[in-house]
Amino acid sequence: MRSKLFVPGTRSELFAKAQNSQADAISLDLEDSVVESRKDEARDKVVEFLCSSEVAASDKTIIVRVNNRGTAHFESDILAVTKPAVDMVNLPKVESAKDVCAAVEILEKAEKANGVIKTVKILATIETPKGLLSATEVASAHPRVAGLQLGLNDLFESLSIDRQDNKNVHATMLAMRMAAGGANIFAYDGAFADFNDENGFRIEAEMAHRLGYLGKSCIHPCQVAIANEVFVHNEDDVTFALRVLEEYKIAAAEGIGAFSVDGKMIDLPIIRRAEAVVAASRRLQKQKHTDTIVSDES
Ligand code: COA
Ligand code: MG
Repeated sequence: MRSKLFVPGTRSELFAKAQNSQADAISLDLEDSVVESRKDEARDKVVEFLCSSEVAASDKTIIVRVNNRGTAHFESDILAVTKPAVDMVNLPKVESAKDVCAAVEILEKAEKANGVIKTVKILATIETPKGLLSATEVASAHPRVAGLQLGLNDLFESLSIDRQDNKNVHATMLAMRMAAGGANIFAYDGAFADFNDENGFRIEAEMAHRLGYLGKSCIHPCQVAIANEVFVHNEDDVTFALRVLEEYKIAAAEGIGAFSVDGKMIDLPIIRRAEAVVAASRRLQKQKHTDTIVSDES
């Protein structure tokens, strides 16, 4: 999930465009891009789209951002959007394990009521000071939490933190990455509002990639290609990882735990990382292959 394209729930004319984009995931939004007076309308539009044949046939990751706990919409949103096509529910402004558990309770009810066989996962957004301080607790609150997502817009705007200063961005990204890593779940980068500033988007995306984030949220189609380009391992990394795994086979057969490749000491953490790099690269190859078949057929 290198890229995830947000679409406001009220703008149903964009749903199919997002669905046909190159984004790995789409995120239908019921929260801050929808005005209070249109919350019910947005939910209805999103549900209609989730039940359509184009979504059922899609291999994109389908996410819905619901309104946060504490709003009148939280429960009705989750009950309505937990449909077979949905992979993850994105919970905004998560601040505690209780917020996660409240969502899990409703998800369980909704899955039964809506005939959803799979377990719908949770993507928890960390975008308040309290949320960042509780991120470790949130990450391990429940096995349904698949990832943490960073929301720098809300977090920085509310605290007057300068987003142009990369040190601020880096420190916050690292903090949330550690919380996610401690629970062995993924960290996901948030949206970048100035879609005309492609370089600014790229700088944040590259920083997130270097910190081991899985991908970055996009709010405009022009950001998707950049995220898809940034969140991949380059060829040198993959070649090196393959060599590490080859040499590891030989070393392991000889009962050796530490060996060298290109003058670099290799032991277990580097082997685990090499395995992850190769696995991610193979997943992407497979995805590209499927995309090619689909575009050849259409
Ligand atoms: N998904 C799919 N297509 C989109 C899109 C999106 N999120 N945003 C824009 N497009 C399409 C437009 O329909 C347009 O298509 P066209 O060339 O066929 O006419 C094209 O991309 C260019 O759009 P543009 O005119 O530059 O954008 P806009 O001024 O219409 O809208 C935003 C700009 C920011 C309002 C809009 O992109 C948007 O609503 N983004 C998502 C916001 C959101 O969900 N926020 C919550 C999470 S932070
Ligand atoms: Mg937000």
